[in-house]
Amino acid sequence: MTFLDIIRPDNPILRKKAKRVMVFDKKFQKLVDDMVETMIAAPGVGLAAPQVAVSQRFAVIRLSDDEKSKEEFGDLAGKLYVVVNPEIVKASKEMVEGVEGCLSIPGYLGSVDRHEKITIDSLDRHGKPQRIKAEGWLARVFQHEIDHLDGKLYIDIAKDVWEARPEDEEDGVAE
Ligand code: NI
Repeated sequence: MTFLDIIRPDNPILRKKAKRVMVFDKKFQKLVDDMVETMIAAPGVGLAAPQVAVSQRFAVIRLSDDEKSKEEFGDLAGKLYVVVNPEIVKASKEMVEGVEGCLSIPGYLGSVDRHEKITIDSLDRHGKPQRIKAEGWLARVFQHEIDHLDGKLYIDIAKDVWEARPEDEEDGVAE
C-alpha cells in the first residue's frame, strides 16, 4: 500500500473537470486501494481522485466504523463505496444544511446546503454498473465527492466558512 499525497487548491488539478475512467486494469485497482488507505489514514469519509492529483472521475467513500458512527449509521458504518463515472440521476427537492470539511482544505469547515436524498448511477471498481440510493449524511458525502470530479469545492457554495477548532476534528467531517 502507498499513502498518496492530498493536494491543495493551489494545485490546478483540483479545479479541472476530470475525465471518465475507461480502463479497469491492475494499475487502476492499485490506485483505488491506495486511495482507500489514504482516506482512512487521513482520516476522512471520502476521497476523490483529483484530490490525489489524478484527473479521473472516481471517488472512494467510507463512513467510519467507530462506535459513534455505528450507532448513527448502523450497517452503513464501515461500508466501502467505490463510484466510477458517477451521475446523480435523481435528487430530492428537499435541501438540508450541514457542516462539511475537505481533506484538501485542512483546518476549515463550512455550512453547505445539499439534497437530502439522491440516486447515483455509476460503475463499480471493475466496471460493473451499480445504482446507489443515499440519504442524509451519506448523500452529503456523495455530493461533495462528485463535485470534486467537476473541479468544484464546498467553499464555492458554502454559506459560511470558518476555521475549525481542534475539538471539531473528532467529528470526522473531513471529506
Ligand atoms: Ni473534499
